[in-house]
Amino acid sequence: MPSSSCPTPARILVIGAGGRENALGWALARSPGVEAVWITPGNGGSCELPGCQQLTIKESDQAGLEAACRDLAIELVVVGPEAPLAAGLADRLRELGFPCFGPGADGAQLEASKHWAKALMQESGIPTAGHWAANSREQALQILENEGRPLVVKADGLAAGKGVTVAESVEEARAAIEEIFAGRGGSGPDTAGSELGSPCLVLEERTFGPEVSVFALCDGQRMVLLPTAQDHKRIGEGDTGANTGGMGAYAPAPLLDAEGLEQVRLLVLEPTLAALRARGINYRGVIYAGLMLTTAGPSVIEFNCRFGDPECETLVPLLGPEFAQILFACANGNLDQAPALTIYPGCSACVIAAAEGYPGELRRGDPIDSALQPTDHLQLFHAGTRQDHLGRCLTSGGRVLAVVAQADDFDTAFERAYNGLAQVHFEGITFRRDIGHQVRSR
Ligand code: AMP
Ligand code: GLY
Repeated sequence: MPSSSCPTPARILVIGAGGRENALGWALARSPGVEAVWITPGNGGSCELPGCQQLTIKESDQAGLEAACRDLAIELVVVGPEAPLAAGLADRLRELGFPCFGPGADGAQLEASKHWAKALMQESGIPTAGHWAANSREQALQILENEGRPLVVKADGLAAGKGVTVAESVEEARAAIEEIFAGRGGSGPDTAGSELGSPCLVLEERTFGPEVSVFALCDGQRMVLLPTAQDHKRIGEGDTGANTGGMGAYAPAPLLDAEGLEQVRLLVLEPTLAALRARGINYRGVIYAGLMLTTAGPSVIEFNCRFGDPECETLVPLLGPEFAQILFACANGNLDQAPALTIYPGCSACVIAAAEGYPGELRRGDPIDSALQPTDHLQLFHAGTRQDHLGRCLTSGGRVLAVVAQADDFDTAFERAYNGLAQVHFEGITFRRDIGHQVRSR
C-alpha cells in the first residue's frame, strides 16, 4: 500500500492523445488516493476509462493548459508526448508552481536533437555507435564517400520515428541524404536542425542485435527502473516492411535479465542522468533508452524523453499502486521519500490494431464495434479514435487500439490479447499475428 509519508496527488492532468496517455490515465486513476484524472486532448476512449475525464485542450495550447491546471487545482501534470516537452511546456508549468512529470526543454534535447544526445553520450563514455554530424549535403556525402560503406542516416530533430534510414548499400544511404536535404525526410534542414551551424543530420555506424526498451523514472538525481519491454517496429509479420510507431510489445523482455538491466543502469542510465546534471539540467521525467544488445554489450540506439508507445500500455498493468506517488515524487525531486514500486511478476502482451494503409495513407472515419469486456487481466486502450456528435466511436489515426493482456506466461498472455482483439471490429483492421514471436511457443 502507499506509504503515508509520501503524498499522493489527488488531481492529475495527463497531456496527450494516444494509447500511451490513456494507459497512463488508467494506471494513475487506479492508484489509491487519486481522486480524479483528466486527459487532454485524449481520444475516443479517454472518458470511458474509470476515474478519467476528457478535456479538449490541445498539447500545443500552453495558455489553455495553464488555465486548466489553475481551474481544476491540478496537483500533478504528466506530459505524454515529446513535442510539448521540447517546446518547454514542463518548464512553464513548473514556473507556475505545478509539479510536472516530464523534462524541461533542456532535458528534452535528449530526444529532440540526435546530435546533442550523441555528444552527451560520447563525452560520458556511454556505449553507442560511432557517428558523424553534418550540416550540409556536401559534407554528408563526403563522409559517406570517405567511409565507403552503408551508414545509418538520421535527420536531426523530432521526426516522429520517420527520420532514420538503416541503409543496406552506399547508394541507399546517399539517397536518404539527398532526401533529407530536399526537405522530405523527417525534420529536414528547414526545421529542428536548421539553426545556423547546427548539424542537421547524423550518420552512424550500423550495429547489430536485438533491441529492447528500458525506462528510468527520474527525479533529477535518482531513478526507478521499469521492467524492460520489446517493441515491434515493422508493419509486417516476420519484422518486415516499413517502420511504424510500434505494432505491439511485450514485457518483461527476457533478453535483458535482472543482471543485464543492472548493467544498463550502471553503464547507460546513471551516467546519462549524471551528464544531464553536469549540464545544469534537472531532469524530472522518463529516460527511455532504446538499446541494441550487440555481441560487445548494450549500445544506445536512441534516447527518448517520454514513455514508449506501445511499451507504456504494455508496462503499466504490471505496476503497483505506488505509481502515482512515484511520478509525483519524480516531479517534486524527492524519489528518496517514495515507497518502492511494486512490479507484478507476470507477463504482459500488447497487440496494436491499426488502420488500413498504416504507416502510409490511411483509412479514417470507420465505426468501431467492440464487445471486449476489460478484466483484471485484459485492457483495451484507445489510440487513434474519436467520438462523433452521436457518441459513436470512429477510427481517426494510424494506430487505432491497443489490446493488452497479462498472465503467468507469455503464451497465455498473447492468447488472451488475441482473443480480446477478435472481439473488436472496424473496416480495414490491420494487425500482426506474430507479436511476441520471440517469447511464444505456440
Ligand atoms: P531511432 O529513430 O534512432 O530509434 O531509429 C529507428 C530504428 O532504426 C531503430 O529502432 C533501429 O532498428 C534502427 N537503427 C537506428 N540506429 C541504428 C544503428 N546505428 N544501427 C542499426 N540500426 C539502427
Ligand atoms: N515504441 C517506440 C516509441 O515510442 O518511440
